[in-house]
Amino acid sequence: MKGLILSGGKGTRLRPLTYTGAKQLVPVANKPILWYGIESLVKAGITDIGIIVSPETGGEIEARTGTGEQFGAKITYILQASPDGLAHAVKIARPFLQADPFVMYLGDNLIQDGLKGFVQRFQAQALDALILLKPVPNPTAFGVAEVDPKGRVLRLVEKPPIPPSNLALVGVYLFSPEIHTAIDHIHPSARGELEITDAIQQLIDSQQTVEAQTLSGWWLDTGKKDDLLEANRIILDEYLGPPQIEGTVDAISQVSGRVKIGIGSQLVNCTVRGPVVIGENCHLENCFVGAYSSIADGVTLTDVEIDHSVVLQGAQIVGIHQRIVDSLIGQRARLTTAPQRPKALRFLIGDDSQIELT
Ligand code: TTP
Repeated sequence: MKGLILSGGKGTRLRPLTYTGAKQLVPVANKPILWYGIESLVKAGITDIGIIVSPETGGEIEARTGTGEQFGAKITYILQASPDGLAHAVKIARPFLQADPFVMYLGDNLIQDGLKGFVQRFQAQALDALILLKPVPNPTAFGVAEVDPKGRVLRLVEKPPIPPSNLALVGVYLFSPEIHTAIDHIHPSARGELEITDAIQQLIDSQQTVEAQTLSGWWLDTGKKDDLLEANRIILDEYLGPPQIEGTVDAISQVSGRVKIGIGSQLVNCTVRGPVVIGENCHLENCFVGAYSSIADGVTLTDVEIDHSVVLQGAQIVGIHQRIVDSLIGQRARLTTAPQRPKALRFLIGDDSQIELT
């Protein structure tokens, strides 16, 4: 069994961060989202992993993620010249996949359930596809499955106005090599992409065995800001261990709860309430850092209150006297203010940025 992680795409919903970087490298609890997917595959015994990348961000993904050695895997990078759909990604990965069955994992998705049980069921029943489903309150925004009581998939529909069920397709799929024949039979959709839902429907229509399993744990699609903050909250809640302070914290600072502070970081007169992760070589002075915040390496925070937010590498936030909440601050971004109460706001903001003064 091989793994195929889709880490190309356009990332329009996470602009402006995706103008300069891959969305799959945006950190959740200070670790790139993509790495959770790799680790999940390796945990299920899948170590031969292909990663689909785009020309714009492939170099960065490869430089950060490497050969796979750090994960106990062998990674092959596969360039998709343009983001022509999930099934198109499978098509161009064919020389890597050959005739092997594989788990396809969307590089911006996270699921709580381990993959082992799904792999075992897929193999034991010799299925052609096993798709994973999760009930959602708004099925019109997703690919939706209609399933019979035995778990057989009858029909898939993309963003249906009248959904046949509330079961959305999660971004993890298990396929036999039959999927390649199915992809050869489909055509680009109205949005010009080769859709994986059309390929799975093609498998169903040609009497192959396509079954579904409903996830018991959470599923997170981190392609948008609020979903990413939610992923950060859940991952900090579930995976952050006991306090681990490797940086220096002065005597008047108060650090409580599950907090991780990396090597070379300095906290002066700060209050930190976990779960919080602070990376390496950060400088925090006169700050309050509230629960569910992730501060990446090399960040400077001075005279700042921040809560439920993700701050990326090298950002500087100085003297912001209102509490910063529910925010995603990009790499090397600078937010500063005059020492006295500011009389005006002066911005240099990237395209598609969002600022809400609430
Ligand atoms: P999406 O989030 O559906 O698409 P996108 O990355 O283009 O983002 P947006 O809708 O915000 O513009 O893609 C899911 C995952 O699959 C994501 O990790 C990107 C990846 N992908 C590819 O690798 N190749 C593709 O052709 C497409 C469409 C997506």
